[in-house]
Amino acid sequence: MNNIKAIIFDAYGTLFDVNSAAEKCKNKIGKKWEDFANHWRTTQLEYTWLRSLMNRHKDFWKITEDSLNKSMNVYKINFEMKNELLNLYKILSTFNEVPETLKSLKKKNFKLAILSNGTPKLLNELVASNKLENIFDDIFSVESVGIYKPFHKVYDLPIQKYKIKKHEVAFLSSNTWDVSGAGNYGYNSIWVNRTKNTFDNLDYEPKFEIDNLKKLISILS
Ligand code: LAC
Repeated sequence: MNNIKAIIFDAYGTLFDVNSAAEKCKNKIGKKWEDFANHWRTTQLEYTWLRSLMNRHKDFWKITEDSLNKSMNVYKINFEMKNELLNLYKILSTFNEVPETLKSLKKKNFKLAILSNGTPKLLNELVASNKLENIFDDIFSVESVGIYKPFHKVYDLPIQKYKIKKHEVAFLSSNTWDVSGAGNYGYNSIWVNRTKNTFDNLDYEPKFEIDNLKKLISILS
C-alpha cells in the first residue's frame, strides 16, 4: 500500500451506524429491535442488488422506505412508527471513533471522499448532521451512474475525477461484499470488521482487516 493518494469510505455501516435509527426506538419496538434493524438493512441491500440485475433503478431513499415497509410487516411493528424511523435514518450517528479519525486524516495529504449507494441529498444531510462537512473533498453517489454497488462503474467514479490509478486508492467498508467489489475492481480494499464477522468467498482477500477506523492511521503511516 505505497503511494496512496485517495482514501475512499463507504457510508452506511462504515462511517454511519445503520442500526442507530431502530436503536433510538428500542423502548417502543421491544426486544426484537436488533433483529428488526438487521432485517431492514438486509432487505434494503437485497433490493439494491435485485434492482441492479433487473435494470429497474430506484433511488436509495425510496428503497430504504420499501424495505422498511417489508420489515415492519415481517416484525409486526406499528406503522405509526414509520415516519419516526425514516426521519432517524436521515440523521444516523457515526461510530464513536469516526469524527476523530477523519479529522486526523484531514491533516495529511490525501483526498478524502465518500462513495455510497445513498443519494447526494441524503449523504450531504447525513454529513452535515454529524458536523463533518469540512472533511470530504467529494461525496460520490451511485446516482450519477444509476446502478448500485458492486457494479464496476460505481468504483470508477473517483478514478475519473482524480485521474489516479486504482492501486493509489485505499477503500474502506464494513460491508464484506463491498470490500470484495472494490478489491476486485482494483482498489486496496480494507475491511472494517467491528462485529467479528466472517469474510466472503468472492475471489478477494482484504488488504487489511481492522476492528475500528482509527487503526487506518497506523496502516497509512
Ligand atoms: C453504501 C452502502 C453499501 O453506503 O452501505 O454504499
